[in-house]
Amino acid sequence: MGLYSEQVLPRLTDRMLGNRAFEKVRKEAVAGLAGDVVEIGFGSGLNVPLLPPEVTGLWAVEPSGVARRIAEKRVSASPVPFHEAGLDGARLDAPDARFDAALSTMTLCTIPDVTTALQELRRVLKPGAIFHFAEHGRAPDERVLRLQNRCNGFQHRVAGGCNLNRDITALVTGAGFEIEAVRNFYLKGPKAWGYMYVGRARNP
Ligand SMILES: C[S@@+](CC[C@H](N)C(=O)[O-])C[C@H]1O[C@@H](n2cnc3c(N)ncnc32)[C@H](O)[C@@H]1O
Repeated sequence: MGLYSEQVLPRLTDRMLGNRAFEKVRKEAVAGLAGDVVEIGFGSGLNVPLLPPEVTGLWAVEPSGVARRIAEKRVSASPVPFHEAGLDGARLDAPDARFDAALSTMTLCTIPDVTTALQELRRVLKPGAIFHFAEHGRAPDERVLRLQNRCNGFQHRVAGGCNLNRDITALVTGAGFEIEAVRNFYLKGPKAWGYMYVGRARNP
């Protein structure tokens, strides 16, 4: 990893995803979480201060050491017991049916083997457990999608492997989850970067 992706990008991401608009989306994503929760792509812990009191523990999966260090202040200020749970969402170090719920925000765009990661989530979730997500991805409008496809290579290079054009609902259902609810909308700003999927899916 180069200096940019190792040192600069996690700090930039913390700033860019730490604004009010994302906070609103995060609040929607974490609402209803309870019990022991696994979060993939934990990043700098921006969801930690928003976790409901019903969460009994958070297991964080995050490859970036710098992001994990930025998260330390948020983690120590939170009453929720915290555990590091590995570096790769595609290889979760946890027994089958270990968790009551799962969380992912702005991460399914980035995990290289995202289908394996979603299957891993299903493996470690109890039957009936809910996966909460807030992700950006493939837009339904042809013009926006064309721009997403055109900019994807650049985005991938400058944003740590992020893809603009992943169909999040298709990925989640393709891994065997059943969608309970999903809200799609554009965030304010450039549409190619802001088509959102905020929802919940059940592990059958
Ligand atoms: C755009 S950031 C989002 C961070 C955080 N979820 C948030 O909402 O602020 C994407 C995160 O996915 C992490 N990531 C990349 N590859 C991953 C993998 N294979 N497994 C888990 N997380 C990964 C990155 O290190 C980064 O922290």
